[in-house]
Amino acid sequence: MRYLTAGESHGPQLTTILEGVPAGLPLVAEHINVELARRQKGYGRGRRMQIEKDEVKILSGVRHGKTLGSPITLVVENRDWKHWTNIMGIEPLEEGAEEEVKRKVSRPRPGHADLNGAIKYGHRDMRNVLERSSARETTVRVAAGAVAKQILAQLGIKVAGHVLEIGGVKAKNLSFSSLEELQEVTEQSPVRCFDKEAEVKMMEAIDEAKKNGDSIGGIVEVIVEGVPVGVGSYVHYDRKLDAKIAAAIVSINAFKGVEFGIGFEAARLPGSEVHDEIIWSKEEGFKRRTNRSGGFEGGMTTGMPIVVRGVMKPIPTLYKPLQSVDIETKEPFAASIERSDSCAVPAASVVAEAVVAWEIAAAIVEQFGQDRMDVIAENVEKMRRYAREF
Ligand SMILES: Cc1cc2nc3c(=O)[nH]c(=O)nc-3n(C[C@H](O)[C@H](O)[C@H](O)COP(=O)(O)O)c2cc1C
Repeated sequence: MRYLTAGESHGPQLTTILEGVPAGLPLVAEHINVELARRQKGYGRGRRMQIEKDEVKILSGVRHGKTLGSPITLVVENRDWKHWTNIMGIEPLEEGAEEEVKRKVSRPRPGHADLNGAIKYGHRDMRNVLERSSARETTVRVAAGAVAKQILAQLGIKVAGHVLEIGGVKAKNLSFSSLEELQEVTEQSPVRCFDKEAEVKMMEAIDEAKKNGDSIGGIVEVIVEGVPVGVGSYVHYDRKLDAKIAAAIVSINAFKGVEFGIGFEAARLPGSEVHDEIIWSKEEGFKRRTNRSGGFEGGMTTGMPIVVRGVMKPIPTLYKPLQSVDIETKEPFAASIERSDSCAVPAASVVAEAVVAWEIAAAIVEQFGQDRMDVIAENVEKMRRYAREF
């Protein structure tokens, strides 16, 4: 399974084409719209999220509520496009009209793609860069992830994401007894945090950042339960599923780090406190006593929950901008301001769920049958039985 995305932040629409999704998967727009709405929520988001309600159109690959095995085209229109038709028009400009184009960007934002992108592609108006480097693109990544989640749900695999940290405020109470409980609580939380005390402090930290024209980042975690043993492989570097998930997390805008299980803490502990002891019972077969590895050994799933965390840096657009340089005059100037969030960590946790779900679904589809959902489901069940009886 693979997908491409296309579309500018203030262009007419965002598009994704998903190739290799198996036939026979129940799929309706609502499965995707629920996820799009989750991405748009969250304390600390800017005004754009309030004025636009994203809705998907499924344009190919689905008939009468089931996938056909052919490419699936998903489109999300930008409702704001009507205000940007001149600025973002597709047609060539008339002679001399270039000077009149509004919202030209000539003062690159530190931390954003503006300057490198402009030099790389030779753009004098850095809007040509920011329109595509904007995290608006994650809308259709969430749409693709919603389809992946549908595949996983058919196989009894659950995915949940939540926020562990914002602006230095850490969630301490993580005593959820099931993924369902985690989901129920975080779905009601404006910052997608399980810990109610931390939630309040996180919101205060966001208010404070906003008041100061600043931005803050944080840490999100995704947990996936029910993935059978042995998905991914140790035999070749590009078949290691943990590596693919790590790349997917760091590919999310503003994500700078990733860890599995106890993660970077493993550097500070002896092996006896890092590795998970192996146990066996007649009912369940092999298991690990603990899950410090976060569900991976040798690039393959262990059958324990996959636990992956990503670090998001603070958003680069600041209402009190850092110093930059105007690329035309070469004079020092405050960086440009583009309508922006002060904290997008809660929304980013939804994006993280989506990209992790995609990688796991793609690996399962590749390994267990590819073309038909019913065959894949049978093969996954067989693998679960082999593992129990091994
Ligand atoms: C959900 C989400 C929303 C974001 N919103 C903004 C935003 O409003 N303003 C901004 O400058 N950056 C925002 N970002 C981050 C930038 O897109 C990102 O920092 C930029 O593309 C540069 O890439 P890099 O930080 O990965 O190096 C957001 C990221 C995510 C995941």
